[in-house]
Amino acid sequence: MKKALVTEANKGIGFEIARNLGKRGYDILVGARDEARGQKAVEKLAAEGISATFIKIDLNNFDSLHTAGKMIDSLDMLVNNAGIPDSPKPGRAALDLTKHTFDYTTDDLRTTMETNFLGTHELIKNLLSVLTDNAKIINITVPISPTDFWHPLAYITSKAALNVMTLTYAYEFEKMGSHRQIFGIMPGAVATDLNGMEAGAHGGFVKSPESAGQMSTDIILSDKNQNGQIIQYNGKIVTDYEVQLRN
Ligand SMILES: NC(=O)c1ccc[n+]([C@@H]2O[C@H](COP(=O)([O-])OP(=O)(O)OC[C@H]3O[C@@H](n4cnc5c(N)ncnc54)[C@H](OP(=O)(O)O)[C@@H]3O)[C@@H](O)[C@H]2O)c1
Repeated sequence: MKKALVTEANKGIGFEIARNLGKRGYDILVGARDEARGQKAVEKLAAEGISATFIKIDLNNFDSLHTAGKMIDSLDMLVNNAGIPDSPKPGRAALDLTKHTFDYTTDDLRTTMETNFLGTHELIKNLLSVLTDNAKIINITVPISPTDFWHPLAYITSKAALNVMTLTYAYEFEKMGSHRQIFGIMPGAVATDLNGMEAGAHGGFVKSPESAGQMSTDIILSDKNQNGQIIQYNGKIVTDYEVQLRN
């Protein structure tokens, strides 16, 4: 049975990707920073007949990532789903799309970079030796070019760094003649705790986690070679990555 680790599969998009991969025959490692929340997700997946096991993954605690690397002997897929939009604020959704660019603090940037980029990088490094020859690494990401509606500085800076890692690792895999793939998926706007939005909001623009999980899994399981691509939920490949930044 092929094995997939989905980070922070305890809720949101990660849970739905884990569920869809599980239904399509994968043995799931449910990465979560909190054991109780992770075990609850394992039970929900098991109730649907999915083979799932909890593994502690806290992107802010590198010891947990080293331990995970030692516990896994072979891995066919790593879905780097865990991510935060900003410094956590109690009592409200963390993504504040009204926050002015100049109001971001260096701490906001440090927090998101540490979790979304450095933590993810450390996890990949710890798992490289156990990834199978045809393994896929998937980084869940967002558009990084600012618009009137979309300019959350800390969040998009950390995801831009993640995208650069995707492109650079892909370059190395290709140069080595490796069959491994690394690619990014942009699920689009999804109703989760991250943004506090409702499914169907903004004229249907905001998707449910169930629908985002299914669309993302279809892309993940494609037979095509997607190494180095950044792919939108609808299958469109982002071909103007740097042009977007300039416009
Ligand atoms: N929602 C959207 O519109 C949207 C759009 C595009 C991309 N994404 C991306 O999709 C991914 C999943 O987001 P979501 O919307 O499903 O959000 P979510 O429901 O808020 O889930 C985020 C997950 O990340 C976990 N997490 C937070 N800090 C962590 C850390 N230090 N180490 C490990 N895990 C940590 C949370 O764990 P706890 O439960 O323990 O807090 C939670 O399981 C993120 O990478 C996000 O950037 C989301």
